[in-house]
Amino acid sequence: MPADRLLVTGGAGFIGANFVHYWTQTHAGDRVVVLDALTYAGNLPSIESLRRLETFRFVQGDIRDTALVCKLMREERINRIVHFAAESHVDRSIHGPDAFIQTNVVGTCNLLQAARDVWGDGKGTPDCRFHHVSTDEVYGTLARDDPAFVESTAYDPSSPYAASKAASDHFVRAYHRTYGLRISISNCSNNYGPYHFPEKLIPLMIVNALSGRELPVYGDGSNVRDWLFVEDHCRAIDQILRMDCVGETYNIGGRAETANLDLVRNLCRLLDETIGASPRLQEHYPDCPAARGSSCAELITFVADRPGHDWRYAIDATKLRKATGFQPGESLVSGLRKTVSWYLQNEAWWRPLLDERYAQWVQQNYKRSERS
Ligand code: NAD
Ligand code: DAU
Repeated sequence: MPADRLLVTGGAGFIGANFVHYWTQTHAGDRVVVLDALTYAGNLPSIESLRRLETFRFVQGDIRDTALVCKLMREERINRIVHFAAESHVDRSIHGPDAFIQTNVVGTCNLLQAARDVWGDGKGTPDCRFHHVSTDEVYGTLARDDPAFVESTAYDPSSPYAASKAASDHFVRAYHRTYGLRISISNCSNNYGPYHFPEKLIPLMIVNALSGRELPVYGDGSNVRDWLFVEDHCRAIDQILRMDCVGETYNIGGRAETANLDLVRNLCRLLDETIGASPRLQEHYPDCPAARGSSCAELITFVADRPGHDWRYAIDATKLRKATGFQPGESLVSGLRKTVSWYLQNEAWWRPLLDERYAQWVQQNYKRSERS
């Protein structure tokens, strides 16, 4: 079978970076081209080790740059676009929706148009695919006894982030129905694992606990999320790409619904255990309560709730399971253990992201890109 030539947008972000590591390991003969604007959320160190591979190429650029996208697609004879690039943090979308509209909506439309221009309305290109990586947040919120989201659940997004992803999903489907573009979409629940930017719940709690800083839990901590280890998400996307399923949408989930407060307490227990058992870690993280025999849970602080905070997400992934047999490989317990251990072993990756000067630089650049 001829090798595939992938354009991975957002490949320096959390899931995108995990995806290109996964792909280069499992499909060694394929060409992988990452296009990433390197916003505050993009990190070259996450994919540094891949840059020595002949099959790998990194290009810094914006998905809204039509000329660049078309040029790359032609130059590299791209036959698969795996589209991760997005503004992804709900809290940031509440403070500044503009960047979300620009990247998630305008950027996605731009990529669709480029694919259409280069691939020519899907005709005569049976190996082409535009896979759009989306979220369960498009479906809105669930009450305790509501059934889990299925692919036909009506869209009802709450945050500007979710609304921008919902809009992008609609455009992807419209390009299939109207122009025959060969698309697929996946809507996944909360991911966690290596290379996760420490503004999201799990990595934020880990790095704060290690430094003895408070663990801010929104509202009463009863909000429920379904968690999936990031490598399982990458494997699910691989299975969707391999299937003959143009025009289809698949939900992906971890079957691991957990209230935020329980999740944070579990993380605290894991850190207490790991640091409590290691004099070296106790010396390295002297401000962590576990280093002096206390529990990280003493850092839990209830703070003001997120406006429009969805109460519960739950995924029914029966369609994907029936089509491919996909099951998550990690349980929440094993996945959290791997994640805590990764953050303990990779301080050189996350420490610079907490540096104040870096944060200021990010802030300035983030504002500038919002204005442009
Ligand atoms: P992330 O914020 O960690 O990474 C996003 C990447 O996109 C960054 O590398 C950033 O530099 C890049 N980017 C942003 N704007 C760009 C632009 N205009 N042009 C080119 N690159 C740009 O995000 P993530 O958590 O890895 O999420 C990836 C995708 O998966 C997103 O589309 C998100 O909606 C979706 N998703 C995420 C989760 C999750 O739990 N994180 C769950 C389901 C779906
Ligand atoms: O469901 C998929 C979505 O999961 C993705 O589409 C998003 O890109 C991704 O960021 C994530 O969104 P959430 O808003 O669910 O993730 P976050 O880590 O920001 O928050 C998880 C839960 O924890 C949520 O209920 C809010 C809460 N929270 C979050 C932070 C950052 C806190 O209680 N305290 C915090 O400091």
